[in-house]
Formats: sequence, structure tokens, C-alpha cells
Amino acid sequence: MEETITFSVNGRQRTVTTDPQRALLDVLREELKLTGTKYGCGEGRCGACSVLIDNRRVLSCSTAVGSVKGASVVTIEGLSGETALHPVQEAFLAEGAFQCGFCTPGMIVTSVALLRETPHPGDERIVAALDGNLCRCNGYVRILKAVKRAAAGGGGP
Ligand code: FES
Ligand code: FES
Repeated sequence: MEETITFSVNGRQRTVTTDPQRALLDVLREELKLTGTKYGCGEGRCGACSVLIDNRRVLSCSTAVGSVKGASVVTIEGLSGETALHPVQEAFLAEGAFQCGFCTPGMIVTSVALLRETPHPGDERIVAALDGNLCRCNGYVRILKAVKRAAAGGGGP
């Protein structure tokens, strides 16, 4: 049975009427047209669908939209300001930390969550935080460098 569900997405209140068990990822991509968040495996194994919910990194493919009622969701589209990219996005650009780019939104969202919690992580902490994010292009070395560059620059909001 459908329900009407209201939650904040990238600072804006959004209301959808849908099955509350539907994956948040589907609602973001199909109803709200926020296609920056990617569908990789659909079963919690790749991290491509990572978003922030109340500042915590969550896999949106494995999150029922009914569970985010009243919560604050931030997607990759919500990280940048109107005129500037988020510092973590800038760091990924500076290090060329992507090839096909499919994993990149999830990598960046996960890195933002990490740097909010641990502003100056060591390599091991970064690798552990990104453990659930897969890059099929094997760009891990540059991704690690990008997260370190972002951390060195303060990591951003
Ligand atoms: S699409 Fe969600 S973890 Fe792979
Ligand atoms: S850059 Fe292609 S999957 Fe990571």
C-alpha cells in the first residue's frame, strides 16, 4: 500500500507517494530525478548508491524510503554550492581520481562522511572507510590520494 512520505533532500522538503518499502535509491533516481546516485549491485555490496542520511553514510539501495520520513538526505548533487564544488570533489578532480566515474559519487559521499567524523584520517582509516565502495576501474591509488588531499585542505563542510 502506498504512503505519502516527506523528507528533506539536499535542503529541500520533498514529498512522494509510494510503497514505503521501495528503495530510497529508486525514489531519488526515478521520482526526484537525482541520477547522480548510482545503481551498482542493488544489494549493498558496491557503495555506488551511497548518500548521507542525517550526516551518516548509508546505502540507499538497501534503505526503505519509508524509513527516512522526516530525515535529511544529502546526495552528491547536494554537496556542492551554487558556485563551487565541495572540497572533496575538488580533490578528486585535482588527483584525477576517476576513470569511468561510475563509483565516484559514492566514493565522494563516503569520503565526506569520513572526513566529518575523522578530519585527519591515516591511510588505514581511509581504506577501512572506503572498504565497501568498489571501483571497477581499479582507481584506488588515486582515490586514496584524493581523500588525503581533501583532508590536508580541511575536508570541507
Ligand atoms: S547499489 Fe547499493 S551497494 Fe551497490
Ligand atoms: S572510476 Fe570506474 S568504477 Fe571507479
